[in-house]
Amino acid sequence: MAVKIAAGPSSTSLGASLAQRLHIEMIEVTCKHFPDGETYVRLEGATKGDELVLIQSLCSPQAENSMVLLQMASAAVGLGVSSLAAVVPYMAYSRQDKRFLPGEALSAELIARDLEACGINRIFVVEPHSEESLSFFSVPCHPVSPVEDTAEFLRSRGDCVVVAPDEKRIPDAKDLAAKLSVDYGWVQKSRDRTTGGVRSEIGNVPRTSRVAVLFDDMISSGGTVVKAAELLKSAGFEKIEAGCVHGLFAHEAEQRMTEAGVSFIFASDTIESKFTRYSVARSVAESVKKELL
Ligand code: R5P
Repeated sequence: MAVKIAAGPSSTSLGASLAQRLHIEMIEVTCKHFPDGETYVRLEGATKGDELVLIQSLCSPQAENSMVLLQMASAAVGLGVSSLAAVVPYMAYSRQDKRFLPGEALSAELIARDLEACGINRIFVVEPHSEESLSFFSVPCHPVSPVEDTAEFLRSRGDCVVVAPDEKRIPDAKDLAAKLSVDYGWVQKSRDRTTGGVRSEIGNVPRTSRVAVLFDDMISSGGTVVKAAELLKSAGFEKIEAGCVHGLFAHEAEQRMTEAGVSFIFASDTIESKFTRYSVARSVAESVKKELL
């Protein structure tokens, strides 16, 4: 019996780093498509009784990447593994963790139920969007904070003020700023639940550096960062940088942020893209090691 890891196509690099850090074998994952577009998944290299860790980010295309993870779990169960954990570097559908408007689907609950129904009996989620989104899991669920990895990356970039672009993200900004020994501040944001439009106003942002680093859990359309960057520019910051753990960067996000005066954009490898500047492998490895090895 051995602990092994299987990395899906959206997390091959992070999966390889994790295998290396944990000194565990990485097994073969074949993922292809039938002519009509349906997904085919096969795992090779795990045997009955193995403890298997799956890793697959549920980034865009979310439905496809979720289906791959569900099929990886189904394949693992078919091989007779004795335990099945999943590391989800980016958990899609977690923002809809409430029915904000009558008649809405509760996608965070749906994805949790699906993953469990396929046999996953332990889950690690990097920087989950909210506690509520994890409350739908009944199997042990471990949030992984990559704040150390983020701090290590930002430390090399010099002095700044860390700014949360939303009051809900103040604890993250405070934590990150403490690790960097710099000040933190925040912008107050409200979102129109029907139009998706964002309204922001400056909160408390100390001017103890000429550089402001906006840090969010995720950047999607870039709308949140754009509003905050405009406010910080008006407040007199000379340089504005923006980053997040999960870089979704939908549509024209990069262009919109650049036009709003953001001079540097960064994200982690929970979603592998050209904006990936640092890895969360160390934090994930520590968490998996603590719970499984
Ligand atoms: C919202 O609660 C999140 O923390 C992010 O602020 C949000 O998802 C970013 O989205 P966008 O880039 O589209 O404004």
